Amino acid sequence: MRTALSVLTDELRRLKAHGVKHLRVSPDSIAALRAAVHSGGASVPAIAPDTVAVPATENVGKPVVPAWTPRASTTEAVVSSLPLPLPTPFVLPDGDKRARMDALCARVQSDPVCAAHVRPGKKIVVGVGSLDAKVMFVGEAPGAEEEVQGEPFVGPAGQLLTRMIGAMGLSRAEVYIGNIMNWRPEIPVDASGIQYGNRPPTEAELRYCLPYLRAQIEIVNPGLLVALGTTAAQGLLGFGAFKALGEVRGHWHEFAGKPLMVTYHPSYILRNQSNRSKRMIWEDLLQVMARAGLSVSDRQRGYFL
Ligand code: URA
Repeated sequence: MRTALSVLTDELRRLKAHGVKHLRVSPDSIAALRAAVHSGGASVPAIAPDTVAVPATENVGKPVVPAWTPRASTTEAVVSSLPLPLPTPFVLPDGDKRARMDALCARVQSDPVCAAHVRPGKKIVVGVGSLDAKVMFVGEAPGAEEEVQGEPFVGPAGQLLTRMIGAMGLSRAEVYIGNIMNWRPEIPVDASGIQYGNRPPTEAELRYCLPYLRAQIEIVNPGLLVALGTTAAQGLLGFGAFKALGEVRGHWHEFAGKPLMVTYHPSYILRNQSNRSKRMIWEDLLQVMARAGLSVSDRQRGYFL
């Protein structure tokens, strides 16, 4: 089992890979980390008065001390990497799709763990779209725009996703769009409390939120799923399932009894605007269209060639 310290170390590596060069850590936190190292690293004690230190199994369903306070500090980034409780089991109520989705949304919005990780004034994000969608897209996690609006894929990557859906002959309202995670993964904020940049969710964060995505799949019951990018694919296929996205993208897999296509995240196209990159995603989406029984015109077939 991974210890809290190894989760913390992974997180620091991840931050480094994302260009974070310095972390300010309070004396309290350093003392707590030292104590954890000396105790063999089996658990990390609370490292500041406003932190979460939750042993994985003992705190299921218990309220969690909010990790974020108005005081901007890099301590919180360390806090966010501490173990999360296991997800609390829940059962969807009987009723029609709307009633079940409303119940699920209420449940996610009142989840104390989600609430503890959303910074003040920002929103927990659940999926949107048609409850009768044939196609469900699954992304990674809310970003800056999404946590403000409380809706997935509304920022630049989301606008591109909306255009991709349009190119498939569908509207955004006809599909369902969800994320693996329900809050924006925290990284250090600046002195004014603004978070610049994003980091991928940790395995523990994905594990915590996955039941909520499963419930959305159960309610919508789409014909197929499309995982957008590495994190979504890791969440659905398992962390050890592949080393590079290229191994699994463009192929059919299965999740929750549904056919699952893995493709690149739209942000990949924002970074690589070549027709070659666009065509790679488009070929995956052509497979999705065929499997979803959508008509494909010759013109659509030839996009980005
Ligand atoms: N990227 C994602 O994966 N999901 C969002 O909601 C926004 C950007």
